[in-house]
Amino acid sequence: MSETSMSEDIVRIFDTTLRDGEQSPGASMNVEEKIVIARQLEKLGVDVIEAGFAASSEGDFESVVRVAKEVKRPRVVSLARAQEGDIKRALKAVEQARHPGIHIFIATSDIHMKHKLRMSRNEVLDAAVWAVTYAKKHIDYIEFSAEDASRSDWEFLVQVFSEVIRAGAQTLNIPDTTGYAIPSEFGSLVRHLVEQTDGGKRVAWSAHCHNDLGLAVANSLAAVANGARQVECTINGIGERAGNTSLEEVVMALKTRKNLFRVDTHVVTEQIYPTSRLVSQITGIPIPINKPIVGDNAFAHEAGIHQDGVLKQKLTYEIMTPESVGITGNRLVMGKHSGRHAFAERLRELGFTLNKVDINRAFLRFKELADKKKEVYDEDIEAIIAEEILRLPGRPDRYELLYLNVNSSSNAIPSATVRMRVDGQECVDHATGDGVVDACYKVIAKITGSRARLVRYSVKAITGGADAQGEVSCLIEDGPARVSGQGAHTDIIMASALAYINALNKLEYRTHYRESVERQGP
Ligand code: KIV
Ligand code: ZN
Repeated sequence: MSETSMSEDIVRIFDTTLRDGEQSPGASMNVEEKIVIARQLEKLGVDVIEAGFAASSEGDFESVVRVAKEVKRPRVVSLARAQEGDIKRALKAVEQARHPGIHIFIATSDIHMKHKLRMSRNEVLDAAVWAVTYAKKHIDYIEFSAEDASRSDWEFLVQVFSEVIRAGAQTLNIPDTTGYAIPSEFGSLVRHLVEQTDGGKRVAWSAHCHNDLGLAVANSLAAVANGARQVECTINGIGERAGNTSLEEVVMALKTRKNLFRVDTHVVTEQIYPTSRLVSQITGIPIPINKPIVGDNAFAHEAGIHQDGVLKQKLTYEIMTPESVGITGNRLVMGKHSGRHAFAERLRELGFTLNKVDINRAFLRFKELADKKKEVYDEDIEAIIAEEILRLPGRPDRYELLYLNVNSSSNAIPSATVRMRVDGQECVDHATGDGVVDACYKVIAKITGSRARLVRYSVKAITGGADAQGEVSCLIEDGPARVSGQGAHTDIIMASALAYINALNKLEYRTHYRESVERQGP
């Protein structure tokens, strides 16, 4: 890339955590959780929030409607196939947004057209033009995506994009749907489309990359270097298969190498870390410790020679500061004598806007924790919020843990006794298992009558020290439904039980939600 070839400019950040990100196995979120994330995305400064695929389910429709009402500055879009039913549903879902938009897509690669769509090139071209023309009668802002663009014929892409620009699309998205592209090749494709498409100079070009070869960020940067002015990405890079372009990586690359790219974004980079943790807590997808920008080790210097250099001058081994992405270190918040006011103030600083009732609930949990643990860190507070406040809206949880007792020794079979409240009734039971967590999960399954299968279980310490809280995340599956649950406690067996019960409550919510929606009809 020539350093002089790019002008000072803005790259729009299009966040699809709530749509493509949610397509990660086990990352499904309820409406309330999506609202919490959407608020944080607004604070982060993203330009566009893709809130869902309105026609795909009632839950997605409802999420788009709620996010559209909730956020003010970012544009809110819904995905839609190039079909009348999808477009109508998407239009309805975004109608209350301050800045509404619709994102229409159709596949353009021969492989997709032949085997998936069973349509000829002309049919696909007609469908794309028809869809954009139809949508344009109802909404001003339209983004058009040529799915699997990186494996499509370049001249066919030029033809399709030229026609949809004529029909009224303002943003043209170039997806590397299968994560197949290589940066030099993807950059050339973007350059070719910008230059050869009729009207290509007066629209915004966008890159949407998947990470199957670990190249999503590199391909997105190559797209920017070649004229793209929108990048589609997700927090922590979550998404289908190996995920999407990671927002934090692409934004910090543009910022850190501004000398090369000469572009800015509207992202408030200090909000990156809180957003990353929030998404991880809500989805239950852990952040790898060596993940660039937000992983626990991202700013940790281990080698003596590096430590020595950093102590003398940070620039020796640090290309950006932890503070610039919102990492301020484990700050000791308060002890057990801290008051409600100070606690509420800390919550506000951490980015949580809660009502009085929720603050009081969280404060009680904080007090309980402060009694057990000498030092309470920001991460502990975040875990309390994730567990207490992001619960299901407007209805109490069906299942509640009241008491847990486990027995484990080197010469006895591990066993657990659990007392729970189920629909207001107290129930108690006992089981043995391969280990105490297994025994505990067996009792909970017995009491709740759940047949859900445990797909994934992970435990990590939230902060350092032997009295650290353990954070457990589990993923359960019941038929087509997959949900994750989280639990945090100074005792990891308790954290495990809380995580499992949290997942079962979410599963209940899903079933209940589906039933009530079916009764009401679409
Ligand atoms: O990966 C993809 O092609 C998509 C499109 C719908 C934009 O997610
Ligand atoms: Zn995608």
